[in-house]
Amino acid sequence: MIYEKAQEAAEFIRGKFSDEIKIALVLGSGLGGFAENIEAAVKINYADIPYFARSTVEGHAGQLVLGRIGGAAVAVQQGRFHYYEGYQLEEVTFPMRVFGLLGIKTVILTNAAGSLNSDFKAGSLMVIKDHINLMGVNPLRGRNDGRFGARFPDMSEIYALDLQEIAIAEAKAMNYVLRRGVYCALQGPCYETPAEIRMLREVGADAVGMSTVPEAIVARHQGIRVLGISCISNLAAGMSEEKINHEEVMEAGAQVADIFKELLKRIISKLV
Ligand code: HPA
Repeated sequence: MIYEKAQEAAEFIRGKFSDEIKIALVLGSGLGGFAENIEAAVKINYADIPYFARSTVEGHAGQLVLGRIGGAAVAVQQGRFHYYEGYQLEEVTFPMRVFGLLGIKTVILTNAAGSLNSDFKAGSLMVIKDHINLMGVNPLRGRNDGRFGARFPDMSEIYALDLQEIAIAEAKAMNYVLRRGVYCALQGPCYETPAEIRMLREVGADAVGMSTVPEAIVARHQGIRVLGISCISNLAAGMSEEKINHEEVMEAGAQVADIFKELLKRIISKLV
């Protein structure tokens, strides 16, 4: 049972870091550098945590970093698991299950994404106001374990509105224009075709990527509040002459690293 496995992993983590953790962060492609800002960090390789999968993607370190940012004890996933790597969604979202059992109340999910909105340029940040799940799978499929949450959880405010407002207010205080939009997740790993991108625009997506949605659903299922932030790494397929590649995605993360760091630190300081 996932619950018992998650309990075992949570106990293992508590054994390495005993402070009460209230906030977790998941760092997306190119954004892993943020983990360097964690004070008094305890780093645990995913391979050492019971039942954790391993991150196979370049740009994803594959470790859990525990420590402090400002006054807050945080757990940071430096690297995440994606469905396209071949994992089951149960494995992709296992860290969220563990975070829930650690008593974490808020999770900040970050990712790299392509932009469907020509106003959202490469290197800009977007707070996620809602999502569209086009992965064709759902992490809650299968027998429901009521210890985690309800069979049919409500998703009408999956990304907590007050957290979005905090993110926007903090960005404003930095004189930074944080975009706000709808994130759409596909399975990947190939990027989309121009025809697919035209379709996604029609259905109301502002950004497209290959992660975040399963984790957000599972977090919400167990009552963890979710904030989502996308780093726009490129204009989506067909919106410019450029072809899309992973290097450019990584570069965009490096480009916004300083703003991203400052913004996250400010948001976290408001959550404690
Ligand atoms: N499409 C899907 N995922 C992505 C993209 C994209 O254009 N850019 C970064 N992640």
